[in-house]
Amino acid sequence: MPTPVAILLSGRGSNFLALHAAIERRKLPAEIVLVLSNAPGTPGLEKARERGLEAVCIPHRAESSHEAHDRKVVAALTAAGAEWVCLAGYMRLLTSTFVRAFPERILNIHPSLLPAFPGLQAQRQALDYGVAITGCTVHLVDEELDHGPIVVQRVVPVEPDDTQEALSARILAQEHRAYPLALRRLLTESWSVDGRRVRF
Ligand code: GRF
Repeated sequence: MPTPVAILLSGRGSNFLALHAAIERRKLPAEIVLVLSNAPGTPGLEKARERGLEAVCIPHRAESSHEAHDRKVVAALTAAGAEWVCLAGYMRLLTSTFVRAFPERILNIHPSLLPAFPGLQAQRQALDYGVAITGCTVHLVDEELDHGPIVVQRVVPVEPDDTQEALSARILAQEHRAYPLALRRLLTESWSVDGRRVRF
């Protein structure tokens, strides 16, 4: 049986599409039961609907608090039957209410080799720092930003004359490989979290 997975996004949704494509190619034993955004007009929601997927927006601005918004999101995920949650460019920190509702079942992708360059504009941060290599990280989500145990990392070289756009595109190509790989391993192998390590 495919595992029911929800995708949370706030933007264009290319990582969502990479996960969807892996499912369609039967490389990932999952089923996307819901695509959810916090922002009206998110392009990723339209792409989900075009593919016949359930897609909803729960605008955070309409809510009285972060907590209240997360409670609604968790209720929608639960109602859809999601067992796993994949953050794919979801521009919100998760409250502990959310994290505790899906213990060790929330994944995030970040465009750097964590713990380097957490937060916004990781590719810009890497260029400004002058690193020679960067990459992407898929990790389990805990209550700190870009922090939980690492599942997969992929390395990307920084070229001497890189622009933020060129570097971001090179990293994104690796993100699209890393995310399906990480989820596949978690869904098909036996594993446990041991401190900061995911041990397969
Ligand atoms: C990606 O770079 C991801 O690592 C970061 O947000 C971006 C989302 O891009 N968390 P997309 O919407 O999946 O194309």
